[in-house]
Amino acid sequence: MPQEAPVYCIIADTDHQHCSALGSLMEEIGFTSLTCRTMGELKDTLNIVTNLEFAFLSLDLIEDDNLDLLKHPRLIDVDIAIIHTEDDPIAASAAIKQGATYFFCKPLNFEFVTDLLSDLMRELNALEEKQRAEHNNCSLDQFGLLRGSSKAMYKLYRTIRKVAATDASVLLIGESGTGKELAAQTIHQQSERCDNPFIAMNCGAIPPELVESELFGHEKGSFSGADKKRIGYFEQAAGGTLFLDEIGEMPMDTQVKFLRVLECRNFRRVGGERNVASDVRIIAATNRDPLEAIHQGLLRKDLYFRIAQFPLHMPPLRDRGRDIVGLAQYFLNEFNEKNGTQKHLSDSYKKLVSEYSWPGNVRELKSLMERAYILANETLDTEHFPNEHMDFEDNEDYLRVPVGSSLEDAEKKLIFVTLDASDGDKKKTADQLGVSLKTLYNKLNSYEE
Ligand SMILES: Nc1ncnc2c1ncn2[C@@H]1O[C@H](COP(=O)(O)OP(=O)(O)OP(=O)(O)O)[C@@H](O)[C@H]1O
Ligand SMILES: [Mg+2]
Repeated sequence: MPQEAPVYCIIADTDHQHCSALGSLMEEIGFTSLTCRTMGELKDTLNIVTNLEFAFLSLDLIEDDNLDLLKHPRLIDVDIAIIHTEDDPIAASAAIKQGATYFFCKPLNFEFVTDLLSDLMRELNALEEKQRAEHNNCSLDQFGLLRGSSKAMYKLYRTIRKVAATDASVLLIGESGTGKELAAQTIHQQSERCDNPFIAMNCGAIPPELVESELFGHEKGSFSGADKKRIGYFEQAAGGTLFLDEIGEMPMDTQVKFLRVLECRNFRRVGGERNVASDVRIIAATNRDPLEAIHQGLLRKDLYFRIAQFPLHMPPLRDRGRDIVGLAQYFLNEFNEKNGTQKHLSDSYKKLVSEYSWPGNVRELKSLMERAYILANETLDTEHFPNEHMDFEDNEDYLRVPVGSSLEDAEKKLIFVTLDASDGDKKKTADQLGVSLKTLYNKLNSYEE
């Protein structure tokens, strides 16, 4: 079914012939192509174009040092193919790290590009049709364990589908509560390793002196307290996926050993004498900017390059449009089903939910929905949405807690506000709150139970 509004695709290349060949192909598939021959034209086009869904950007035109352009707000949820005259793995990985989806070499394989873009066009048409049909309905699609029908989530699904089929290491980068662990499980489920274990290890929640024995296991008697042999996470995950949460909190000396295991594909248990072969896929997660973590000396650069073969950015909830209300409705449906009730959302509640900035992302939404569900009789309305959330953006250095709040509620809010003010850095948050990192993790986990 044809789209009513044109769907745009940018072709930015200094090569005239290439632009026109690719342009014709894109028009055949159903895109309206916009050709740019200089960097200036490209920037102007980006500033005015709407409904942009794909961009072919030639490295000749944008040049390596202009890869920052990939962070342009108009390109954030657009699939980008970087085009180069030769196969250049270093340029390719730099481009993918900056957010490109593909790296293609000239001459382009037109058959492959046609298949790929026709798929995308079909998906866009289906989405458009669905949105038209649903209108005010806020039902959500599910991909693996992730729910969401926004453009940002569709882009994530497309990338996960591609990366799941490979054995590449993946680094999930995103604010706290954006669903990094769900995304890791989804990648595992969709990979060939799905029948083998998915093992999650939280590098920040384990005392530094025990991290190595947790990862690699230990032999009996290898240190005081090691009264029996222990199989580490690497062995437990054999044939499957090892998910390393909060990778930036792994002690530096363990990072060296960990990198060695990834390169040699074998390891030794602590106190052991023989090498054990390792066959695991690594998915790591961080809620800090990894380059910043490298800069601060918390993450080794060589380890980062090894685990970030495929960096995946989780969109914050505030950038997911109508998914916010969709998820609110989804959590409400779950509570209704569990308790045999039929509570519903008022329009003004939906408005508040969609306007709030959600620093704690989906986790915060889920816990706020539970609270509102408990408070409301039949309709979740404005009075069930905490006041301080409404004024949140005007008061980001303060937390207003209404008299009558439970201690637990006040504590939860303080934790989320501090986490937000620390840009999701849990170590910093724990320090500021004067609790151990482990306590902070326990509290965050308890909000999900
Ligand atoms: N897209 C989604 N659909 C449904 N539920 C979601 C989605 N994203 C996150 N959640 C829920 O939100 C909560 C937080 O998700 P998750 O633990 O995966 O986030 P995270 O990014 O790993 O957080 P953290 O950085 O704090 O470890 C969980 O209860 C999860 O089930
Ligand atoms: Mg997590």
